Amino acid sequence: MARQLSNEQLIRAAKDFGTPLYVYHAEKIKEQYEKLTNAFSKSNVVFFYACKALTNISILSYIQSLGANIDCSSINEAKLALHAGFAPTQVLYTSNGIGFDEIEEAASLGVNINIDSLSNLEKFGKKYRHGYPVGIRLRPNIMAGGNLKISTGHDKSKFGIPVDQLDKILAVVRQYDLLITDLHIHTGSDIKDADVFVKGIEVLFDIIPYFKELKSVDLGGGFKIPYQPGDEEIDIGLLAKKVKQAFDNHPQAKDLQIWFEPGKFIVSECGYFVTQVNVMKETAATTFVSVNSGFNHLIRPMFYDSYHRIENISNPDGEEKKYSVVGNICETDTFAWDRKLNEVREGDYLVFHNAGAYGFEMSSNFNSRLKPAEVMVRGGKTFLIRKRDDFDSLLRNQVILLQVQHEPGKEPV
Ligand code: LLP
Repeated sequence: MARQLSNEQLIRAAKDFGTPLYVYHAEKIKEQYEKLTNAFSKSNVVFFYACKALTNISILSYIQSLGANIDCSSINEAKLALHAGFAPTQVLYTSNGIGFDEIEEAASLGVNINIDSLSNLEKFGKKYRHGYPVGIRLRPNIMAGGNLKISTGHDKSKFGIPVDQLDKILAVVRQYDLLITDLHIHTGSDIKDADVFVKGIEVLFDIIPYFKELKSVDLGGGFKIPYQPGDEEIDIGLLAKKVKQAFDNHPQAKDLQIWFEPGKFIVSECGYFVTQVNVMKETAATTFVSVNSGFNHLIRPMFYDSYHRIENISNPDGEEKKYSVVGNICETDTFAWDRKLNEVREGDYLVFHNAGAYGFEMSSNFNSRLKPAEVMVRGGKTFLIRKRDDFDSLLRNQVILLQVQHEPGKEPV
């Protein structure tokens, strides 16, 4: 098992590269990826890393070197994937709600495409007919996932073409003689129960017979990893067993390739977000610890009420006390309320665990604050993989329209 990064390694990185800092442990990514490939070694499975979780180019090329394929949710993710060294055939592009021009661009790159609306399926049919293999993203009408914001397969979700519109799908496929090679579903994120995937498979099995040129079925991502103490990872071994059983027993599915698109499972636990304590503030209700970051750098606690384990790596043996850990954003910006931490002092380094997935990736420049640097620890060495923003980053795309002295009572020219 890849050891966790030590407090000394994290403090060294913080001192060398400054804080706030995202630190990614390459060997942990490898361990997670190999857990998947080992568990599914008896099935015809291909893993597409869902890069919306973390798109740093060095992370992408590292994951490519492990043998994974890649799942992209925008044309720019697809371009980043190609830039990082993935071959077009390894890239899967599954977006939603996009204009047809983006799909045309994806086709010009030669990547695998899943389409998630009847409207775009029809446009695709008109332009490519049987000439470009394509997948269909279906909405299986299954409720799953850690919370509603990250549930995507239920019957009120915007994602995919509802399975109950199969007749309409088939009409378009017949009209344009479409070459449908993949059927796709994704029900949500933070899924612990292997049976959710079995339910998805059952929905797909009813539909597979209508598509004679299928090569794969894509069961999406969403494998749960532990965030809180006591949380458990999805049982990958059990999932692999159930998936294999289901496919082996189905005459029309047993020769299909099975695709998965894990994001969090591959990169969440590799990530450490290192911050430093600016201010301690005692109040009647709680003791606030204000760190030099905020939801502009790690939005998950405020956006999803997500739990991230926090550790005071500067004082690991300090007496445990309760604190509320907050950011420096000019809004309520709470990372954790009444959380037990080893005694915290100004200047201490606090680390947020499980910050690899949807951490840096969802960061912003809100309050005109700068995005953190990212580093990768590999083979015990630490490499800078993204420079910290500087003041110029805030100005880069701004166009200064008026540089005039405003005189009272006069309109600016
Ligand atoms: N495939 C599709 C089509 C997806 O929409 C997603 C995630 C994945 C794969 C990967 O799911 P994962 O294995 O990472 O759970 N920002 C949220 C998670 C949103 C996930 C969106 N789609 C969070 O931080 O919890």
